[in-house]
Amino acid sequence: MSISEQDVLNALRTIEDPDLHRDIVSLGFVQEPEIRGDAVSVRIVLTTPACPVREQMQADARAALLALPGVREAHVTMEANVLQHRGGGQHAIEGVRNIIAVASNKGGVGKSTVAVNLAVSLARLGARVGLLDADITGPNVPTMMGIAQGAQVEGERGLGVEERHGVKVCSIGFVLPRGTPVVWRGPMIGTAVRQLLHDIHWGELDYLLIDLPPGTSDASMSMAQEAPISGVVVVSTPQDVALEDAAKAVSMFDKLNVPIFGVIENMSYFSCPHCGERTEIFGHGGARLAADDLGLEFLGELPLDPATRRGGDEGEPIVVSAPESPQAAAFIDVARQVAARCSVLEYATGA
Ligand SMILES: Nc1ncnc2c1ncn2[C@@H]1O[C@H](COP(=O)(O)OP(=O)(O)O)[C@@H](O)[C@H]1O
Ligand SMILES: [Mg+2]
Repeated sequence: MSISEQDVLNALRTIEDPDLHRDIVSLGFVQEPEIRGDAVSVRIVLTTPACPVREQMQADARAALLALPGVREAHVTMEANVLQHRGGGQHAIEGVRNIIAVASNKGGVGKSTVAVNLAVSLARLGARVGLLDADITGPNVPTMMGIAQGAQVEGERGLGVEERHGVKVCSIGFVLPRGTPVVWRGPMIGTAVRQLLHDIHWGELDYLLIDLPPGTSDASMSMAQEAPISGVVVVSTPQDVALEDAAKAVSMFDKLNVPIFGVIENMSYFSCPHCGERTEIFGHGGARLAADDLGLEFLGELPLDPATRRGGDEGEPIVVSAPESPQAAAFIDVARQVAARCSVLEYATGA
């Protein structure tokens, strides 16, 4: 019995994308099937290489094909083509498909730690990633990525990027000589931010993550107005006060009409490295409740972990130094959730 392309597509129609709630054939993810005798090959092109259900979908597709009468061999290749953000009126950055801002209303909640580990996670999952450190109050990204502070000053060809751990990095710290007191005023910040966004040759990027300064400062505002941000990830710790602050950040982005992907709870709990016991230092789960209250997605929780802190200090993020650890797995999981939210919002506004 010969197998037709229709048979193949009908079999694959049983597979639904759990975030987009439609089958993968009508979503256009399935590329021309190849049928050779009793062997079928298909390519499935997702909207992100960091898709949380990529492996599951591949296995399901293979099983659906093998269940077809006459099919003996099934090959399913997973690929990705990240959607280009269709932003509002702002000036797009050439080659950059999505800008994801990492924000908090308070310093010290782990915004930079999260930005760095998310960027490296997305790169390791196969995306082309950039990381822009826009935190004038403390440009920590170079240190956390293992790049010497003040490593780069503006040369004749302008400011460049440093590539580390598979991520293209640029920091406002590159333009501040070491020890410079940061007493920048609004207009200066606006200019610097514009320069960082638009004068740098980022090349082709699926995701450009921005580590924003904490709070509703001038830099956050300029950033949100200067660039078409696909969405914001709000980082919070579980305490009530931190959550109140997170709510303030959320309302600022709402006012600026910048979409929010969701909330991440950092330093959520402590896993004892010796006995594995979980201690809920700040009272765990608050950010999930706050996200619910604010009508936002909860993107995941990250443990308070000494190795994560060391990774930041030593310039070797935990997802690089211990990629198989549960802590790294938590970051990778959050990165997949963020990528999925980005796809869902792009899909909703465009395709
Ligand atoms: N999940 C975590 N576990 C342990 N230490 C963390 C964690 N997240 C952040 N830290 C540490 O807390 C401090 C503040 O984090 P940082 O990312 O610099 O915060 P922010 O950018 O919000 O000011 C740093 O020393 C960092 O290494
Ligand atoms: Mg920081």
